[in-house]
Amino acid sequence: MILPVIAFGHPILKKVASPIDQDYEDIETIIENMWETMYNAHGIGLAAPQIGRSIRVFIIDTEQIMEDEKDLVGIKRAFINPEKISEEGDEWPYEEGCLSIPNIRGEVKRPQKVTLKYQDQDFNTIEETFDGVNARVIQHEYDHLEGKLFLDYLKPVKKRLIKRKLEGIKKGAVDADYKMKFYRL
Ligand code: NI
Repeated sequence: MILPVIAFGHPILKKVASPIDQDYEDIETIIENMWETMYNAHGIGLAAPQIGRSIRVFIIDTEQIMEDEKDLVGIKRAFINPEKISEEGDEWPYEEGCLSIPNIRGEVKRPQKVTLKYQDQDFNTIEETFDGVNARVIQHEYDHLEGKLFLDYLKPVKKRLIKRKLEGIKKGAVDADYKMKFYRL
């Protein structure tokens, strides 16, 4: 089932998400719905808070963007209860975007590699190091579980430039080709 994507301005996007255990109700369905929602919105990653669940789950599929680059292998999987063990390597700039913040992109610098301990969909614990674009998407999605957005890293001058657009998104003034949910007082 395709779910609406929670738009910037909703407080759930600023919350630290909670870990889950194997008994968490309907986790398989939730993850299935996340895949459908992400692909419908042409995304490469989606975190559970973006569909209104404050739990430590995100999905990524970088295979979509790496098909043509032979030396880079994309990954497609769900990450449950990820913990960041370490980040290494030089920081490099990459234009990030976010399904919760349509039509805004911004350059963010992050370390080249990230090592995570996480659980897969069968709740096996895995420790793994990712680099390049895979690391980048993971770092972005991981931030969602910590209540952080890529906007938090932007330079003040860039923030000023997009301020009005952001205010618009909060109020539902967006031009996205997927359904979104807005927070209104
Ligand atoms: Ni995002």
